[in-house]
Amino acid sequence: MAMAGAPWLAAFGEALCSRGLLVLLAVAALSAYLMWYWALTRTLSGPRVWPLLGSLPGLVGNRRRVHDWIAENLRATGPAATYQTCLLAVPFYARRGGLFTVTCNPRNLEHVLRARFENYPKGPVWQSAFHDLLGQGIFNSDGETWLLQRKTAALEFTTRTLRQAMARWAHSSIKARLWVILSRAAAQEEEGRGRGVDLLDLLLRLTFDNICGLTFGKDPETLSPEMPDNPFAAAFDAATEATLQRLLYPGFLWRLKKALGFGTERSMKKSLEIVDAYMAEAIAARKATPSDDLLSRFMKKRDGKGEAFPAPVLQWVARNFVLAGRDTSSVALSWFFWEVMRRPDVEEKIIAEMAAVLADTRGREDMARWADEPLGFEELERLVYLKAALAETLRLYPSVPEDTKYVVADDVLPDGTRVPAGSTVTYSIYSMGRMESIWGDDCMEFRPERWLSPEGDRYEPPKDGYRFIAFNAGPRTCLGKDLAYLQMKAIASSVLLRHKLELFPGHRVEQKMSLTLFMKHGLRVHVRNRNLPAEVKKMAAVPAARAPPSAAAAAAAAAAATTGAAAAAL
Ligand code: HEM
Repeated sequence: MAMAGAPWLAAFGEALCSRGLLVLLAVAALSAYLMWYWALTRTLSGPRVWPLLGSLPGLVGNRRRVHDWIAENLRATGPAATYQTCLLAVPFYARRGGLFTVTCNPRNLEHVLRARFENYPKGPVWQSAFHDLLGQGIFNSDGETWLLQRKTAALEFTTRTLRQAMARWAHSSIKARLWVILSRAAAQEEEGRGRGVDLLDLLLRLTFDNICGLTFGKDPETLSPEMPDNPFAAAFDAATEATLQRLLYPGFLWRLKKALGFGTERSMKKSLEIVDAYMAEAIAARKATPSDDLLSRFMKKRDGKGEAFPAPVLQWVARNFVLAGRDTSSVALSWFFWEVMRRPDVEEKIIAEMAAVLADTRGREDMARWADEPLGFEELERLVYLKAALAETLRLYPSVPEDTKYVVADDVLPDGTRVPAGSTVTYSIYSMGRMESIWGDDCMEFRPERWLSPEGDRYEPPKDGYRFIAFNAGPRTCLGKDLAYLQMKAIASSVLLRHKLELFPGHRVEQKMSLTLFMKHGLRVHVRNRNLPAEVKKMAAVPAARAPPSAAAAAAAAAAATTGAAAAAL
């Protein structure tokens, strides 16, 4: 009654009621959220998932060591080597787009990469981010579009002539430019004014030149004593960087930036124009004078309808191969050289193996002249211990440390993990090489011998191909694997044949958090001349002439060299 008599009192009562209702609703919503959150976290098995923020705090807190953080999380799951986490603990998102199944379990990987290949494509997020740079090229397509290119390219990648072409490009750039730069650095060291060189920078330039030569028959010579700025290389770098930026943010954000034309999206447009113009010129040149490069080979091919590939498709082809083959080998080589500098025993075995092969192919009379020419195609094929050391590098420092696949339809992985449609499977190649359950107690030790047969004379990768996937596995295995080993062996042997490297005092070797395992601050080293004949003589007495050994015998000699048995083997 009193209320009816006093309208302000009625309004106050109503406000109280609606406020109470609001509080009640808020409490109900919070309770519902907490129950949902509790149920969610019970199904997740990885790092701590916070209300709303999901695993983001852990990710941000470990942003400078993401790969090691993922490896720790995976190790904590024991032999399962798999966990599930969500980026944000938000209903409808956390169990789909925001759900990540992280694994390095070989059986799960075999399932994702081979057995249920169709269910795990690259997916829409990846494809749209890379589309401007790579179009629907082999690296960025799924289904029929990918299959046609894969079949066409696979035929070429198995040919010996392509491997010989890679050896030729590598050989010429090493001899004419890398050696010149390293010799100049070594001379400065001898004069006491050495400032060291950034070996990673040299390697990145060298492999970029090689892949351009192999892909469209033109070496842009970004590696040269003057270390020039190359507009095409710079534009390709900028476009790649801008593409990777897209993957860091929600898709609508970069699309908006692109539509408005600002930030990295604006510079990306300009960079792509430069790349486009350079490649158009290269395609025209190859049309006029075909050679043994990939582009010329693709020009001779016919598509499913029997027609030649049009110019835009040839552009995709070229861009995709350049991206796939540019940094992976140089990054792996930088970790290789770093390990070699820390492990004189490994270095000595590499030198001994090279010496055994060179004694056979070039004779022992004038060892000083061994360093006149980089090792040739046939000689490189025989470097078994070196290949083992490179594989060991990729086990611990895979150039592509983490990779992802999109889940098309609900599925169950072999270890029982349920993966819903629309979620992501991340497979950690980096963690895989650091799991005791896969590589044994000494998994963190750099030990090339684990890649050799018991006699030490043959390269023997694990029988289970899903224990080592630095080159991916299944139908999308890296097409350039053999070329990459050949190129890495050519570069590694050519550097070690003439020089000894030493880490620049105070230089910090750290990983850069990126899709490729770069060294964050490069690799600054002192370069000194190597006296190969003196080293070989120290290892063992100069061998007596004998029949040419097989590659296997040469490798065995290398493995035994540190014990002074090389002479006997030679
Ligand atoms: C150490 C050197 C290399 C490593 C570690 C490496 C690793 C890889 C990996 C992990 C993938 C799978 C990527 C994905 O699908 O997400 C891949 C794919 C590929 N790689 Fe390599 N790669 C290397 C060198 C090269 C070179 C030198 C070339 C070319 C000359 C090349 C050509 C390709 C191509 C064409 C694909 C796409 C295959 C497909 O999707 O069907 N790679 N590589």
